[in-house]
Amino acid sequence: MEQSSSQRPLAARRAGPLSGRAQVPGDKSISHRALILGALAVGETRISGLLEAEDVVNTASAMRQLGATVVRDGAGAWRVSGVGVGGFSEPDNVLDFGNSGTGSRLVMGALATTPITAVFTGDESLRKRPMRRVVEPLALFGAEASTRDGGLLPLTLRGAEAAVAIDHEVAVASAQVKSALLLAALNAVGRSRISQKALTRDHTEKMLKAFGAEIAVEPLKDGGEAVTVMGEADLHATDIAVPRDPSSAAFPLAAALLVPGSEISIPDVLLNPRRTGLLETLTEMGANIAIENLRESGGETVGDLVVRASQLKGVEVPAERAPSMIDEYPILSVLAAFAEGRTVMRGLEELRVKESDRLSAIANGLKRLGVGVEELPDGLIVEGQGLDGVAGGARVTTHMDHRIAMSFLVAGMAARQAVTVDDTRMIATSFPEFETLMRNLGARFLVPNA
Ligand code: S3P
Repeated sequence: MEQSSSQRPLAARRAGPLSGRAQVPGDKSISHRALILGALAVGETRISGLLEAEDVVNTASAMRQLGATVVRDGAGAWRVSGVGVGGFSEPDNVLDFGNSGTGSRLVMGALATTPITAVFTGDESLRKRPMRRVVEPLALFGAEASTRDGGLLPLTLRGAEAAVAIDHEVAVASAQVKSALLLAALNAVGRSRISQKALTRDHTEKMLKAFGAEIAVEPLKDGGEAVTVMGEADLHATDIAVPRDPSSAAFPLAAALLVPGSEISIPDVLLNPRRTGLLETLTEMGANIAIENLRESGGETVGDLVVRASQLKGVEVPAERAPSMIDEYPILSVLAAFAEGRTVMRGLEELRVKESDRLSAIANGLKRLGVGVEELPDGLIVEGQGLDGVAGGARVTTHMDHRIAMSFLVAGMAARQAVTVDDTRMIATSFPEFETLMRNLGARFLVPNA
């Protein structure tokens, strides 16, 4: 792709050991859900530690457009006065979710059983992502969607009048689709049952319970699970403390593993077992990561991480672990490139429909850095070059994908020569303070000459 003048490229090069405390921002998944459930509840929900990144701010705006009162009191401190389940009013303008698959799909679910019409859109990346996976099962409740060809945004959704509960198995391994259906079920008559073979993140279920919904989770014989939720629900406002995002923590964590002599701490990280696949994999690779002060906070497990530079070895990552580390494969692939030996990652077809086609973006980026990599239809095989073996000295295309941008900047911190990413603007969708936080730990980032 030609570089457009509005792109913001950045280069990363080797520096001395990293040290300090990395206070990464609030969890993105929990932040979206806190705003949406707050808007569906009766009363005032107070949120602390909310992620104030573009994706979440777009969800906050959508909640306002649907009739909720959403107020920011200070850094991460927000209040939402909800309209009650079924109380959304018709927005008088398009709902624009920017880069966010989670925001757009969850809100489709939240209004699919309220008889109003809304138009959904997003940026160039989101307008390429599949929406049939959500609007088709929402049609079982009686919602009607009309999309662009191929099931793409912009789309118009007409919520169902008098929706009735459904029993449905979600075919894709997606927490977004499961969550959309659970949110829709809140305003249907009767008890809905939503099952899934994959054990995807369960923040919606946990938070629904905290807001007073009648919800139960039952393990299934095939290893999956079924969630039942009672419709015509009364949600009551509650306070939510958002833990720090493990998917954002992954970047300083990876940099500290790769830069010799580093030692950093990352406090208050969400350690929900559905989100800790990366930590499990890195432990198998020989990473020196200690978890301290493990505790429960607001129904979620939280802990402090202490990370020390480590020589990693390649591993085979079990395909069934993918849902618990689905957003971490870009940074894991970078770590694998600096490991000794080969890393095999499979079961990753979902990565083709993220903010970019991540399998192809990772493979192309690593090749440019001089790393042997094979792109499979559902995975990647990365040939580890050892700690000093990655050449770097290249420019990587990020395809409007925040995690590709951050992953390759981390690669540049350990490669023999600097790595440039073509655009850092999308980092603001999930981790606006990334650059400052990494520089404070000791990273060397430079703005390349035009
Ligand atoms: C998310 C679910 C995952 C993940 C995304 C956040 C969520 O997407 O990739 O970043 O908050 O439910 P899928 O549900 O499409 O796998």
